[in-house]
Amino acid sequence: MKATLLKRLFASVQAGSDLDLKAVCRAIVADEKRLGHTKLAEDLERKLAKADAKQSAPIRKLAPLPSTRRDSAPLVQVLEHDQLRHHMVLPDTIEQRFFRIEKEYAARTRLSKFGLRARQRILFYGPPGCGKSLGAERIAWATGLPLHKVRFDTLISSYFGETASNLGKIFEAAEAQPCALFLDECDTIARARGAHNDVGEVSRVVNMLLQLLEDYRGDGLVIAATNHYEALDQAIYRRFDEAVEIPMPGIIEIARLLEQSLSALKVSKKLHLEHFAASLDGFSFSEVERIAQNAAKRSVMANRKEVALEDLESAAQDVKRHF
Ligand SMILES: Nc1ncnc2c1ncn2[C@@H]1O[C@H](COP(=O)(O)OP(=O)(O)OP(=O)(O)O)[C@@H](O)[C@H]1O
Ligand SMILES: [Mg+2]
Repeated sequence: MKATLLKRLFASVQAGSDLDLKAVCRAIVADEKRLGHTKLAEDLERKLAKADAKQSAPIRKLAPLPSTRRDSAPLVQVLEHDQLRHHMVLPDTIEQRFFRIEKEYAARTRLSKFGLRARQRILFYGPPGCGKSLGAERIAWATGLPLHKVRFDTLISSYFGETASNLGKIFEAAEAQPCALFLDECDTIARARGAHNDVGEVSRVVNMLLQLLEDYRGDGLVIAATNHYEALDQAIYRRFDEAVEIPMPGIIEIARLLEQSLSALKVSKKLHLEHFAASLDGFSFSEVERIAQNAAKRSVMANRKEVALEDLESAAQDVKRHF
């Protein structure tokens, strides 16, 4: 374990903060996982999950969830801690940026004593199927916040002015109750002003979003994701504390994801995942995962004890190449 984590652990004990203590524990799990100590990480994670289950969220039930004025339709979908996925493969440089966001969140009170603000408003951008939505879940999991996913079906209203007012309600609720507020595919509402044939509604919504991002003072996070980075309104970028590009996987990440996805099965000793990974260059994370799963199914269905190279090759042929 790193000295910085040990120091944080002791600082949290000293401060008597259960929330910070748990955040440090999660950071330790992530660190051990990164070091390849998978068994230890899983063991620690189970212990943490049990502790979470014991004291599950009585505090969070208090604040009402935001809903539309007309028909009280929910404006967010809530994913609680035990529903969040967090196993993720990332290039080291991106992993470090994720880790820094999570660490700063855990240290936000200490930072604020020095007049500093933790990174709270995060933008993910990059090609499809590479972990923008999964990344939001992972950050929520690591910080211990519930994920509040904005529902665009109820947010966008055909009544003039109501989309902006729905947005206002969502941010108001996010400030009243700490959460990781997630605006997935945010280009739906944050596209450039003036680029569309509207009667001012787009500008109104973008202006509102700019204002809300700027004014956000909640004790959680705001995460937005898009694969149309260039389509976003220029002024939006400045409102984020950090914009993280989540790129296509390199050969190393492809091999790690194959290994992770096939970890429940035996893999033939003749199969070198790193070699095979090179043949998947250009596939997205989600395609690589699908290939691994289909290969695993092919092997199980054929009653074989091990996944073989031909299982992976056949699965790869079935999945469309990503350009
Ligand atoms: N970095 C990753 N590590 C592990 N699995 C991943 C990763 N990225 C994607 N996946 C797998 O692919 C699936 C789709 O990924 P995700 O929905 O996060 O992509 P996205 O970047 O949000 O794509 P889109 O732009 O289409 O919304 C995930 O549910 C997960 O199973
Ligand atoms: Mg997505």
